[in-house]
Amino acid sequence: MKSMPWKNGLNRRDFLAAAGGAALSAALSPSGGVTAETRWVSREAPDAGGFRFIATGQALIAHDLRAHPYPGYDAVRAVLRQADACFTNLEVAIYGPGAGEPQKSGTFFHAAQPVVLDCLKDMGFNLLAMSNNHAWDLGDGGILSTISAVRERGFVHAGTGTNVQEASAPGFLETPKGRVGLVSVASRVGAPDTPYALGAIAGADSPGVNHMDLEDGKPEPHDARRVLGAIEQAAGKTDWVIYYQHCHNYDTDDWRRTPAWRQDWARRCVDAGADAVVTHGVPLLHGIEIYRRRPIFYGLGSLIFHTRTPPGYYTNAVWQSAIVDCHFGSDGLESLRIHPVLLSAGMNDETFLATRGRPSVGEDFGVRPGYEPEMLLENLRSISRPFGTELRVAESGAYADVLV
Ligand SMILES: [Fe+2]
Repeated sequence: MKSMPWKNGLNRRDFLAAAGGAALSAALSPSGGVTAETRWVSREAPDAGGFRFIATGQALIAHDLRAHPYPGYDAVRAVLRQADACFTNLEVAIYGPGAGEPQKSGTFFHAAQPVVLDCLKDMGFNLLAMSNNHAWDLGDGGILSTISAVRERGFVHAGTGTNVQEASAPGFLETPKGRVGLVSVASRVGAPDTPYALGAIAGADSPGVNHMDLEDGKPEPHDARRVLGAIEQAAGKTDWVIYYQHCHNYDTDDWRRTPAWRQDWARRCVDAGADAVVTHGVPLLHGIEIYRRRPIFYGLGSLIFHTRTPPGYYTNAVWQSAIVDCHFGSDGLESLRIHPVLLSAGMNDETFLATRGRPSVGEDFGVRPGYEPEMLLENLRSISRPFGTELRVAESGAYADVLV
């Protein structure tokens, strides 16, 4: 572990030792995240030279975005490439030697050629979560072919492996601002419950996903200990830890609602050493919480959404997302800027499936005339408020800053 000062003279070990302690909790508001040190960031997000972590919606990518150039691509790329660690979830299995037979048929089978990884690399990503409900779409062999293709391209990854030990292990990324650890988990990997779900879970001797079961509406204790142990292990070896959860456990009556157990669980992950918590699963934006100066993103939607569902299958909200730009200093989060993302509807020709679900960011919303990014940001502000989080939307409407 590098000797990085952590919290007002505390080193990282002291900070973690204090996790859950009275001294820190007394500094928190009842909402849990806003301290007396709160402040608005300026229009120009400060770059004090600290660690910059950028996370996006998930990448359900089936086509190389560069094969059909569009105006918004470069703007997205320009944002992502500013990160020290640029993170998404790879929501597809990758074809390659040894890949197995499709484990699903029809609309919700998602596998892609390795060129989509080249596209993600070009966009600026260097850190990939792999634990999700499509990781096993090409079976055990697909778990391995995906890992091989990702490694060949130099991504750091976590969440799948040849067995549960590998799937649970953190991935480590070296950056100029320090070492980053990624712990990646999925719950309910085969959502909705289907026969292939059990096969997707990594076993003692079988490839698969790092799965965390739920029991009585909470993380199953044995799985929870394994996950928290991995976070603690990563925290002991790194300067920054990202915890990722792919979660298809949502309230059945309203999948816009973040289940209560997830807040408690995300906070436990921060207490164990996570510096940021990112979630995908339900393809919608959920709220943002700042807990102990660590951001928790309860749902970032989809950055790329190459679904094969018919037009109109999903509501408009599914075609909206956000890029979150986090600056960390020695005492945690220094600033957090939200870039609204709009996904394209697709060209009305034979390229429809390849040209829908493509991201545009900020002022480049011209791809869908009449859309107002302020609406997206105002919605995000509204759904983040229950977590004690305040967003200030820029006058231009092109971004919002979070009170940290
Ligand atoms: Fe998913």
